[in-house]
Amino acid sequence: MTNPFYTIGIESSCDETAVALLRGEKELVANVIYSQAEIHSRYGGVVPEVASRDHMRKLPYLVRDALVEAGIDMRDISLVAATYGPGLVGPLLVGLSYGKGIAFGLGVPFIGVNHLEGHIFAQRLCNTEVTPPFMALIVSGGHTSLVDVTSYGEYHLVGMTVDDAAGEALDKVGKMLGIGYPAGAEVDRLASRGDPTAINFPRPMSGSPGFDFSFAGLKTAVLYHLRKHPREKREDVAASFLASVVSVLTKKSIDATRRYHRKNLVVVGGVAANSHLRERMQADGSKSGIDVTFPEVKYCTDNAAMIAAAGAYHHLVLRESHPLSLGPQPSLSL
Ligand code: KG4
Ligand code: ZN
Repeated sequence: MTNPFYTIGIESSCDETAVALLRGEKELVANVIYSQAEIHSRYGGVVPEVASRDHMRKLPYLVRDALVEAGIDMRDISLVAATYGPGLVGPLLVGLSYGKGIAFGLGVPFIGVNHLEGHIFAQRLCNTEVTPPFMALIVSGGHTSLVDVTSYGEYHLVGMTVDDAAGEALDKVGKMLGIGYPAGAEVDRLASRGDPTAINFPRPMSGSPGFDFSFAGLKTAVLYHLRKHPREKREDVAASFLASVVSVLTKKSIDATRRYHRKNLVVVGGVAANSHLRERMQADGSKSGIDVTFPEVKYCTDNAAMIAAAGAYHHLVLRESHPLSLGPQPSLSL
């Protein structure tokens, strides 16, 4: 009997330190994650140097915890997969170097993973019945992109934000409402108690052709509104702002899915955890005959399970690996 193939996934591109172990291509046997959010909330955003140092401090313990969770030994690892971009260069260097050290020490192959592709693989971990081709919306703190996935490993950019990412706008509006970083989940809860029709915020780019997004103007509209109406209910501001974000994301994504003649729309990334977005996308998708799927909420925000899944696929199916000289690529695209 051959030994099972274990991939260790390492994610450290921003402020989550995460390690996962995968058996074969899809069977997750350990998934540990440590969020630095509390450390950075003091500064109102991620401080790269602080993030790098904290990744360094936490990684060895997370690797140990993952091995214990899976009930395996370090020597059982067959492949190391670590995020090499996009992200913050210091934090990327820590996870990448740590991963390369493990690969070198064990004498096993190493593969660098594109974090954005990782988000797409979160979908594969959760919904095995949805297979390419499909349209993907990657919506996170750093990215808002529509990608036509013709097969895993083959991506065609259909549209992207011309300024802020949706998550970035959510975090900034959250800050205006007095919520600490990251604000997405709290804005989600606040909006559930507010009236989404209370304020008529703009729906940026929703009438324009093409599939690009813009959220900077909407964020400024909220700022001006709050200056003019400082007593406005926070719940109503959150609900009305989110209604605009959700409306634009849903319309553009469904239009793109139809234009590219895809039957499935897959929504991934931190903002895909948003309850209002999940509800609206599914409702509007079914009206258009499009099946909209999301990973489970815990696999929407940054994690290493998706990195291990993408790495294992590239190695086991596409027969790829990287040399240990692979460096971090902060602006890597799909
Ligand atoms: O994918 P992710 O963890 O990191 C990046 O790759 O950027 O996404 C983080 C973003 C943050 O902007 C955070 O506020 C947002 O996802 N987020 C949410 C929710 N949970 C996290 N946004 C809206 N609703 C949520 N429930
Ligand atoms: Zn991410």
